[in-house]
Amino acid sequence: MSYRSSTASFYSQLSYSISSIIALSIGVLFVVNGQVSVGGLISLFLASDRLTSPIITISQIFNQLNTTTPLIKENSMLNTKPASINNLTVAKQNEVLAFKDCQLGYQDQALLRNVNFTVNSAEKVLIVGRSGIGKSTLFKTLLNEIPLVNGVINVESNFGQKFGVVGQESYIFSDTLRFNLTLGQKIADATLLEVLKKVDLEKFAKLEALDQKLGKNGLNLSGGEQRKIELARALLAKKEILLVDEGLSGLDEKSSKKIFDLIMEFPGTVLEIEHVVGKEQSTQYNQLIDLNQKQYQVE
Ligand SMILES: Nc1ncnc2c1ncn2[C@@H]1O[C@H](COP(=O)(O)OP(=O)(O)OP(=O)(O)O)[C@@H](O)[C@H]1O
Ligand SMILES: [Mg+2]
Repeated sequence: MSYRSSTASFYSQLSYSISSIIALSIGVLFVVNGQVSVGGLISLFLASDRLTSPIITISQIFNQLNTTTPLIKENSMLNTKPASINNLTVAKQNEVLAFKDCQLGYQDQALLRNVNFTVNSAEKVLIVGRSGIGKSTLFKTLLNEIPLVNGVINVESNFGQKFGVVGQESYIFSDTLRFNLTLGQKIADATLLEVLKKVDLEKFAKLEALDQKLGKNGLNLSGGEQRKIELARALLAKKEILLVDEGLSGLDEKSSKKIFDLIMEFPGTVLEIEHVVGKEQSTQYNQLIDLNQKQYQVE
């Protein structure tokens, strides 16, 4: 509350109390002189309070409005400012994200340094590196799951709502195939069957399979099939950015080729982590970030 409104509130309360005391004193005098009965005095007092209380309340509401307006204004200004959690700030136009002089890792273990790259809209970016080097850690940092050790990551506004993730560990719910694909969203059967074919899951691309349960007491899925379900789910969610952590690993050649083509045809931006990718395939990405390079290693 501002100084001005506090003072106004103080004076209104003070004048209310003084006028009540004066009115009560005069009333008591009238009662003593026998000019007014006690009942009359109470009625008169209540009637005057009915008149003055709303005036006091109005002045308080006016004060509250005066003090909350600047807060509302400041809040609306904050919403237009870039989010700055985990050193995430808004990227330049057309930039989906940019790592600037980033050091990544955990409290007790720095993993990567000098991470500098920019991803523009609709680019396909491949990140490779040996096991344990910090590839998944890079995604975890981007997704704000762990803090950035050093540096800045710029992200597109509303980044949080724009990406779909195909994680290294698949999340399959003990529910129907339909639920695992849609997560409860209403999507036409024909669309579901079409996406199942796209991710090389033809054997499940049948109407009767959609309402079958997955998991222990239903359809059993291999690791590769689980990953394909995750990819189908991410595609159906129609996000602009796909983060794929080892989408091709563990797949046979035919499946791997099909998923690779699907990722390349994806209209949005893709950041994909893989252990290794064939030379011919790797040249088709817009950028290749090889974390095995010396420049990224922490001494
Ligand atoms: N929560 C954690 N706290 C501390 N260290 C962790 C944590 N999670 C992972 N690590 C360590 O960080 C290192 C990098 O892990 P990360 O999962 O990023 O590797 P990766 O490059 O994705 O490996 P892979 O190819 O095997 O998936 C590993 O040595 C791992 O043990
Ligand atoms: Mg990993």
